[in-house]
Amino acid sequence: MDAHERGYFTEEDSVAVVTGRNANAKDERLREVMEVITRKLHEAVKEIEPTEAEWFEAIQFLTKTGHLCNDWRQEFILLSDVLGVSMLVDAINNRKPSGASESTVLGPFHVADAPVREMGANICLDAKGENMVVHGRILDTDGKPIEGAVIDVWQANDEGFYDVQQKGIQPDFNLRGVFRTGADGSYWFKAVKPKFYPIPDDGTVGKLLGALGRHPYRPAHLHYIIKADGFETLTTHIFDPDDPYINSDAVFGVKQSLLAEFKRTSDPERARELEFAGDFWDVEHDFVLAPAKG
Ligand code: BEZ
Ligand code: FE
Repeated sequence: MDAHERGYFTEEDSVAVVTGRNANAKDERLREVMEVITRKLHEAVKEIEPTEAEWFEAIQFLTKTGHLCNDWRQEFILLSDVLGVSMLVDAINNRKPSGASESTVLGPFHVADAPVREMGANICLDAKGENMVVHGRILDTDGKPIEGAVIDVWQANDEGFYDVQQKGIQPDFNLRGVFRTGADGSYWFKAVKPKFYPIPDDGTVGKLLGALGRHPYRPAHLHYIIKADGFETLTTHIFDPDDPYINSDAVFGVKQSLLAEFKRTSDPERARELEFAGDFWDVEHDFVLAPAKG
């Protein structure tokens, strides 16, 4: 019998006995991760002292969560999102130098092959919603414009739905586009003002939120992935600070620096240039990319 096989399980020695059994793990990182998880999990169980019925309910919750997952739906990622774990992993992996734009969650509605559009194009393909122009610059941390930055943008419509949630109702690739900056690093495109929306809440995660007295809403936002040679890729959003859910995002994605100003604008001449009939929303936001690591 090896040393790690000695010791029978007791309430007091539970962590040492279980982690000791993993001494011959083939992968050191796995052994280390399981040591931490075992320690924290046993600590939680000792503090909570669940009844057997409660523990079975927890197992059933996780079983149902797994059954909801398929190629289109990932209930476990949603669970990680509402527990704040997705944002924590994002924060740990995207520590930025001072002055660089902050990241936030990718979310499940990104589409890899969105069309490349001419700068200034309207990404709203069904003319529904309040007109909006979005513009700004892609800069480095010295404030210099980045030429050739690729901006992949996507957003929900004025009713809070992405095109992929309303196939046959919204045109394919509605409110999505890929733009490339010129020498001045500037970008601009036309769209419609997005609306807040609920994360998918008809499954175990929605039920958990309800039981916790939490709503499932995300405040109105635009998603961006910005890539440029020699820079870290930035996955982020900009948010409408006047949204009713801005202080209670279901997935904790809001950061102070990601609040943009959505200005209601009455300017007939500019509206004419933009081919907008009447007032529109004007959103200006610059993004600063961090230099690529090593
Ligand atoms: C989103 O913003 O698209 C999103 C993020 C996390 C969970 C659900 C949706
Ligand atoms: Fe979103």
